[in-house]
Amino acid sequence: MTIKRRKFLKKSVIGTAMAGSGLWGCTTDQNHNGNTAAASINPHSQSSLPIVIATWDNLKATEAAAEVLNNGGGALDAVEQGAKLPEADPQDNSVGYGGLPDRSGIVTLDACIMDHQGNAGAVCFLQNIMHPISVARRVMESTPHVMLSGQGALEFALAEGFEEENLLTEDSKQHWEQWKVEKKPYGEINFENHDTIGILALDQQGNISGACTTSGLAFKMHGRVGDSPIIGAGMYVDNEVGGACATGVGEYVMKTLGSFLIVELMRQGRSPQEACEEAIQRIVKRHPKVYREYEVGYLAVNKKGQHGAYGTEQGFEYTLFQNGNHNLFPSDYYLKS
Ligand code: GLY
Repeated sequence: MTIKRRKFLKKSVIGTAMAGSGLWGCTTDQNHNGNTAAASINPHSQSSLPIVIATWDNLKATEAAAEVLNNGGGALDAVEQGAKLPEADPQDNSVGYGGLPDRSGIVTLDACIMDHQGNAGAVCFLQNIMHPISVARRVMESTPHVMLSGQGALEFALAEGFEEENLLTEDSKQHWEQWKVEKKPYGEINFENHDTIGILALDQQGNISGACTTSGLAFKMHGRVGDSPIIGAGMYVDNEVGGACATGVGEYVMKTLGSFLIVELMRQGRSPQEACEEAIQRIVKRHPKVYREYEVGYLAVNKKGQHGAYGTEQGFEYTLFQNGNHNLFPSDYYLKS
């Protein structure tokens, strides 16, 4: 029984390469095109389109999104297709099918999506539907609302033709049984057992969209909803500026409305990297006693196709598709000691 979580760099050979603040040097980035690349450029300075950026080691998601963009498709289709890959992956314990359940043993899902015209859709506390991101898109496109929750979201999904499925895999069930024996209040709340898929794309026309999908905090209280379905918290895009998305412990993202904050900071002239760093520092300032225990990571991209990434601590990584290549990069982080 193994938890497949995107471990916050503890698994990585990348070490402490500084992705931000102009310190990006020669690193041993994993090149998903088959090469062990020694990247000697600062990836943040690149600005070509199209671009896809996704939280964690998410090659399948960026590949699916890139295929849409390379075929001339739009950013909205790209982020939806990208998000669907981890949602359907039973090995991914934090998203969709195979997600770790709440303390009642029930898998509950949160997701949101937003397009370049400022349209947004979301679902929260949704159960038994494999692709919450597609239900969120349907909410955006077929209802006058932004968010549907719980039973109402499920009824809407079924009426729209989505099928009800059991999302609790045997592996996730075993983790829940183990958690019940150990009786830890929320399990270990860190990047090794809690993460979210956020994905942002700029298409060949320069239009941006974003998506965010998760099964949320493992062994959360029944009914708990995190940041991921909340527009401006888990994800936000503005076609005049760029976009941002979050992973980690949603309570701290919600309390600082991190993705909206990052986009607004970019609007005021900050680079994506600077904006991500400021959003993490906002959490640190507001919650100085707890930020060491509750990890958060942000990604951002601006309209030029420049990106940024920053986490509370070591281990956050992201997958970038740009200039035809998919690469896994480590994020810089706040807590150096
Ligand atoms: N970031 C996902 C959650 O806290 O639920």
